[in-house]
Amino acid sequence: MKQKSNQKGFTLWFTGLSGAGKTTIAQKVEHILRDRGLKVESLDGDVVRTNLSKGLGFSKEDRDINIKRIGFVCNLLTRNGVIAIASAISPYREIRDHNRRLIGNFVEVYVKCSLETCIKRDVKGLYKKALAGEIKNYTGVSDPYEEPLNPEIIIDTDKKTATECVANVLNKLEELGCLEDLAHDEADTQQAEGEVYTKEEEKKIKQRLRDLGYI
Ligand code: ADX
Repeated sequence: MKQKSNQKGFTLWFTGLSGAGKTTIAQKVEHILRDRGLKVESLDGDVVRTNLSKGLGFSKEDRDINIKRIGFVCNLLTRNGVIAIASAISPYREIRDHNRRLIGNFVEVYVKCSLETCIKRDVKGLYKKALAGEIKNYTGVSDPYEEPLNPEIIIDTDKKTATECVANVLNKLEELGCLEDLAHDEADTQQAEGEVYTKEEEKKIKQRLRDLGYI
C-alpha cells in the first residue's frame, strides 16, 4: 500500500492492568491504520521485555526504566512522522506523564477493566500464581496501578466488545485531529497534480474517502 508523504507522528499509549486487553486492541488499531497506508510501529511490553528491556524485573525501579525506554523509542518514531503504539501496564502516573512531556503528541488510552474480570480471564495463568503468593509484586494484586486522571481515551473492555473499543479509539483520534492532516494530504496531492474539481465532484470524492475510512 502507498504510504502518505507528510504523515504527522504521534504516540498512542495504551495503559492498564495485565489482561485488560491492551495488546488486543492495540494490534487491531495498528492493522487498521497500516491498511490506511500509514507508517505505524508497535512497542508491546511483553515483546520489549524480550529484547530492549531484557533482564529487567518488576520492581518500581525496573518498571520505570522499562517505561522510559519505551517512551524514548516512541519519541524517536513520533518525531520522524511515525505513529508509535505502546502497550504496557505502565502503572506509574509520573512516568507516563514524563513520556507525555517528552513526546508532546501523546494520546493516552486507559484500557479499563476490573481486576475481577482480569482475574477471571487470566490468559497467562499469572494472576492465579500471584494470588497464591508464587509471584511477588504483581500489578493489581500485590503492586499498585495508578489510574490515569485525564486520559484522552477510556475504553471499558469488560463492558464493550473489542470491535467497539477499536472504533472508540479511531473515532477519538479523528476527533482529536490526529488523522486530519492525512486526509488533507490526499486532497493536496490531487491539487498538486493540477486537477480542479467541481463542487459536485469534490462532494463525491469526499464521500469516497469517507467510505474508505480516510476521513
Ligand atoms: S510494566 O509494569 O513494566 O509496564 P509490562 O507491560 O512491561 O509491565 O509487562 C507486563 C507483563 O509481564 C504482564 O502482562 C505479565 O505477563 C508479565 N508479568 C510478570 N510478572 C509480573 C508482575 N509482577 N506484575 C505485572 N506483570 C508481570
